[in-house]
Amino acid sequence: MKHIKVFDTTLRDGEQSPGCSMNLAEKIEMAKQLEKLGVDIIEAGFAIASPMDHKSVQAIAAAVSSCTVASLARCTKGDIDAAWDAVKEAKHPRIHVFLATSDIHMEYKLQMTREQVLQRISEMVAYAKGFCSDIEFSAEDASRSDRAFLAQCYANAIAAGATTLNVPDTVGYSTPQEMGELIAYLRKNVAGIENVDISVHCHNDLGMAVANTLASVQAGATQVECTVNGIGERAGNASLEEIVMAVHTRRDFYDADTRINTRQIYRSSKLLSTITGVPIPPSKAVVGANAFAHESGIHQHGVIANAQTYEIMNSAEVGIPQNTLVLGKHSGKHALQEKLASMGYELTDDELEGVFARFKTMADRKKNITGSDLEALVLHRRNNSINVQAGACRLVSHVVNAGDGMPNTAYIKLQREDETLEEVAIGTGPLDSSFKAINRMLGLDVRLEGFSLNAVTDGEDAIGEAVVKLEAPDGKNYTGTGLSTDIIESSIRAYVNGINKMLENGSAS
Ligand code: KIV
Ligand code: ZN
Repeated sequence: MKHIKVFDTTLRDGEQSPGCSMNLAEKIEMAKQLEKLGVDIIEAGFAIASPMDHKSVQAIAAAVSSCTVASLARCTKGDIDAAWDAVKEAKHPRIHVFLATSDIHMEYKLQMTREQVLQRISEMVAYAKGFCSDIEFSAEDASRSDRAFLAQCYANAIAAGATTLNVPDTVGYSTPQEMGELIAYLRKNVAGIENVDISVHCHNDLGMAVANTLASVQAGATQVECTVNGIGERAGNASLEEIVMAVHTRRDFYDADTRINTRQIYRSSKLLSTITGVPIPPSKAVVGANAFAHESGIHQHGVIANAQTYEIMNSAEVGIPQNTLVLGKHSGKHALQEKLASMGYELTDDELEGVFARFKTMADRKKNITGSDLEALVLHRRNNSINVQAGACRLVSHVVNAGDGMPNTAYIKLQREDETLEEVAIGTGPLDSSFKAINRMLGLDVRLEGFSLNAVTDGEDAIGEAVVKLEAPDGKNYTGTGLSTDIIESSIRAYVNGINKMLENGSAS
């Protein structure tokens, strides 16, 4: 059986999509989860893009050890120097250089001739090879490039030292049949291709990114590039969980598998959604809330008789927590720690302290604490940590009075290091008054750009997860998330979380 390498670009191509930006701590947390998931390569960022990108690639290179860490670079010395500087301390570093090869990109974007492009590839791949043995070369817009010219570009890249050739369908234009034919063509026509990995990188503009990726695997690709939840530029990238479960469930057909620990899939998907505040659509294959739900009587009857009547994979296989009662209000810290360990979570002492405090409050309000409730608490653990970052605010208490025919008022008390801050405000509703009180006590002019609320579990005492999109005084956007059985509290927590990110980034002054 063929081993397919999984190259995850959630932190580079995925993070480029609107509303998906992450701060340093969040990127590191996501990278560590990707390592647990078992991806082969993490593309940690585009080091030259900004000092923050450089810093996060460097931090990820130091934080993970079992996967390769790659940084993207254009075919220029400055980009390659920055990429190498960012990944050089990784246990397994990779430089990923790219240059567009389609006529339209060469003429209008690069203003380069074919000859110049061929020469640049040779020179810059060789330059990168001078630093690092593991070099990936991507021909941007490969699927719309002239095939014979493309084959020559890849041959030059191999001759200069590339060890992986990536074939991107940059604008999501290809069909599965065309992608398969392109891979077959390259395998036949690129000198030395049998000695390197063939990778595919498909975008989802026509909804075919996963199908295009799988057709390429069938045709001989040995690496797939993808993102968790399919986030990415425009309509996104090929979704990691869909590719992995397709190859895994249909190993009989693909005669291939990945190194992914499928039981970490759901957790990775939820973590990303919690960090970015971008919800997972209910009908999303593999990880959506309805992916394993059987609504019609005929289906339910079949599944009870034999699950395989309507289930081709089971929810435990992708790590969806089983929603049975797991702990109650009399459970102690040790029981919580053991339960979390059995779910695969190992928390630091500080994190456990924070999660336990929230667990106790929740257990007082909610009869049944289920696996999903605990998972939600853990995914929000940085918001609940007793050791918040310097200068960050923590919600201490709140009283909100809302109704019709009377002013909506909120009293909010926050703690910032040794300082206790409190304020009362009147607003058009309970959230407006709460957010106004916070803005006033911090002297901030923050605009609420978006708000959503989702139930984490079913039932009348479900936990509500609030997501706020905020615009900082300097115009930058931030996402905050908050969790509680009380939806006003989760909204206030989300707002405070968003403001803390602004403060950390220096956007609030
Ligand atoms: O979509 C694309 O072509 C890319 C390359 C930089 C690999 O993201
Ligand atoms: Zn891309």
